[in-house]
Amino acid sequence: MAIEKKPWSGRFQKPTAPNVEKFTSSIHYDQRLYSYDIEGSIAHATMLAEQGIIAKAEAQKIVLALKNILTDIAKGKIKFNASDEDIHMAIERELISRIGEAGGKLHTARSRNDQIVLDVRLFLRTEIKGILALVNDLQIQLIKLAKSEIKTIMPGYTHMQKAQPVLLSHYFLAFGEMFARDTQRLNDCKNRLNILPLGAAALAGTSLPIDRKRTAKILNFPAISKNSMDTVADRDFIAEFIFAASLVMMHLSRFCEDLILWSSDEFGFVEISDAYTTGSSIMPQKKNPDIAELIRGKTARVYGDLFAIMTILKGLPMTYNRDLQEDKEPLFDAVDTVKDCLAIFAEMIKHTKFNAAKMYLAAQGGFSTATDVAEYLVEKGLPFRRAHEIVGNIVAYCLKNKKELENLTLKEYQKFYDGFTDDIQKKIKLENVVNSRKHTGGTAKAAVLERIREFEKSSSKI
Ligand code: ARG
Repeated sequence: MAIEKKPWSGRFQKPTAPNVEKFTSSIHYDQRLYSYDIEGSIAHATMLAEQGIIAKAEAQKIVLALKNILTDIAKGKIKFNASDEDIHMAIERELISRIGEAGGKLHTARSRNDQIVLDVRLFLRTEIKGILALVNDLQIQLIKLAKSEIKTIMPGYTHMQKAQPVLLSHYFLAFGEMFARDTQRLNDCKNRLNILPLGAAALAGTSLPIDRKRTAKILNFPAISKNSMDTVADRDFIAEFIFAASLVMMHLSRFCEDLILWSSDEFGFVEISDAYTTGSSIMPQKKNPDIAELIRGKTARVYGDLFAIMTILKGLPMTYNRDLQEDKEPLFDAVDTVKDCLAIFAEMIKHTKFNAAKMYLAAQGGFSTATDVAEYLVEKGLPFRRAHEIVGNIVAYCLKNKKELENLTLKEYQKFYDGFTDDIQKKIKLENVVNSRKHTGGTAKAAVLERIREFEKSSSKI
């Protein structure tokens, strides 16, 4: 599709230097917007004809040719090159080469400045829908796991030190909460970006009698932008999306970090299926959690994409500046990375075995029930601070004598406080410890099952 003459060449005396073409061109990556560009052009041409700005017959020719171009690009029949500059010019050139004069009317009352924002908005609203579906698939997977592991007790950690026993299901649903917030954020971002930018033209709008609401209707936008300058300058929606994507990645990455640690021989809490791990080229015994590590690593990439867009935007004078062309590679990278990671993570977790016996064993001992002993004393009427101190003394005694709270005799307990009775061992039995936290948000089986039911309702709605 190389054509010597550029659509904007009227005022130029010399042709563009070849390295300038290569440097300024974005066609090698923005060509992935072609279907949205054509969709937008068809809507624009339709509106122009309805408003009498171009003839109906011309619009018909344009629309038909655009539809053919769409199929030809999809079939790989049209080759792009650097002299095409960007996807808008590439398609317009192809259009003019096919239908001549009429093709030159498509860009009436439009600039590439509003056109590119349209393409990206159309692209992103579709992609966000796909990402939301992937997050939902992962949620369904987590709910399944939460149900099947409802009896599994594991040690909960703070500071990477054994803290208190929790249900493994509660752990899964903690990520369920995170992904639920991601879902809200992505939906919010999708709704905010869902406005028609066309009509802003270069920056000031157009003197021609366009009907923006009509174009919005054709393209299924519930609203139109309200300030032509803002419309071409604004990329908030890209930054918002990459931020939302960064949080999704961060949640996956934290989950991965646990799985990596838990699959070590020292923990042995999980075994990721052979199909989702890799080996070592030298150490024959190795089975490495590379997928989880790569997701953790790719999180950094998406953060980089976020940093790129934020930095592109920070010093830009009003309104459009060519710097904005640099928004697309970080955006595409964030979209592709988050989609890939969500999909493979859901599969990996589906093929991971959780070792309930090892988790239970690890949840025992290590004073993970010390808080419960203190709460037991609170139930006996002691102020919590006092109870805390007594139990602290008991822990010190255990450490010195190599004992655990679970195997102290009643007599030993009573040495520290004479109000201990023989129900203390029952109080600190792991199952009782877990199930006593039955308030909303607690780790008791009943509370977790209740939250599972709520998740089931909301995830089926998407
Ligand atoms: N390729 C450009 C971009 O991505 C399209 C807009 C170009 N506008 C311009 N006035 N040079 O931002």
